[in-house]
Amino acid sequence: MKMQFPVEAFKGIETPFYYYDVELLQATLDAVKREAAKYEGFHVHYAIKANFNPRLLEIVNKAGIGADCVSGGEVRAALAAGIPADKVVFAGVGKTDKEIALSLDAGIFCFNVESVPEIEAIERLAAERGVVAQVAVRVNPNVGAHTHANITTGLAENKFGVNYEQLDGVIDVIESMPHIKLIGLHFHIGSQLLVMDDFIALCSRINELQELLMETRSLVLPHINVGGGLGIRYDFPDKYPIPDFEAYFATYANNLKLHPGQQLHFELGRSLVAQCGALITRATYIKSGTCKKFIIVDAGMNDLIRPALYEAYHRIENLMSTKADGVYDVVGPVCESSDVFCKDRRIPETQRGDILAIRSAGAYGEAMAFGYNCRELPKAVLSTDL
Ligand code: LLP
Repeated sequence: MKMQFPVEAFKGIETPFYYYDVELLQATLDAVKREAAKYEGFHVHYAIKANFNPRLLEIVNKAGIGADCVSGGEVRAALAAGIPADKVVFAGVGKTDKEIALSLDAGIFCFNVESVPEIEAIERLAAERGVVAQVAVRVNPNVGAHTHANITTGLAENKFGVNYEQLDGVIDVIESMPHIKLIGLHFHIGSQLLVMDDFIALCSRINELQELLMETRSLVLPHINVGGGLGIRYDFPDKYPIPDFEAYFATYANNLKLHPGQQLHFELGRSLVAQCGALITRATYIKSGTCKKFIIVDAGMNDLIRPALYEAYHRIENLMSTKADGVYDVVGPVCESSDVFCKDRRIPETQRGDILAIRSAGAYGEAMAFGYNCRELPKAVLSTDL
């Protein structure tokens, strides 16, 4: 199944906008559910940060998938979409009292905690309410995911999680707190990982750690959360519209030694929503420089920041031209020289007014849009709207 573009309908819609193919989203969600269900105790949470469009969240909820949140706003968005509180996990190094309070009041499943002062804040707020908060300690596994430096999170020098050496002390603190119950360990090594080796390395670290906790504290926790990170093929979105969830879950099933009854949680963002979304934009002008040709489009870095921020590759297709290729830089209208979607790319010869699709933009596209230059936030159109 590949993403479909109803070009005739697009002609009547003001650009830029994000377009989501609901059929492909549904097929992706069906695939992740089917593959996870092959294993006892595997639970998928959708990492809302990838795309918090409320209409997509409702579709995710209908698929029976939980939520991974990183702010009070995301917890609210998950609940508003109907995702049950007992399927919501909340991570992040900087949870404020207000965010913790609203999550306690909602009765979320688990806080992924990252520091002692945060644990103290949760204890205080849970005590005020007379409730017990369930927490998992986020452990920094010091596993280097081979991806862009800005989206690697599992290395020792990152701000995330607590280090191995500190873990024992952190568990002591939690065990001394009457309103906090330690239910698990949480990990996340990075994003856009396409080779399974990094996940295998994570499994070995978790196995070592579980053995150590067993030996030193006779401790077996009921939940292990391995975060997200499964990548997608930005180079061939039509050849690989649905990520290889089968290989991904099999990697964990084959390499992670779980104790009997232990539940395994995943926080998948990009792999669930990236391929079903595209940023649709019109060529405003074609401009020839001395040695370059530019397609100036009406979408900018404020609509999709990934190329400017991570030098990310997105395929760009002209939906209206089948002419021979030209070589272009595709750039936006924003007053920043980094407002560039691609450089020296072969794209069919393009004319003013042509409609282009910037592919694989369903994750970290709309969610990261902003209003610089007083630009309007991009709208979203679902295939079911047309
Ligand atoms: N869990 C935790 C703790 C995370 O930090 C993340 C992503 C995820 C789950 C979901 O990861 P995913 O399955 O989507 O790889 N804006 C960047 C990506 C940032 C990822 C941050 N953390 C990008 O556009 O590539």
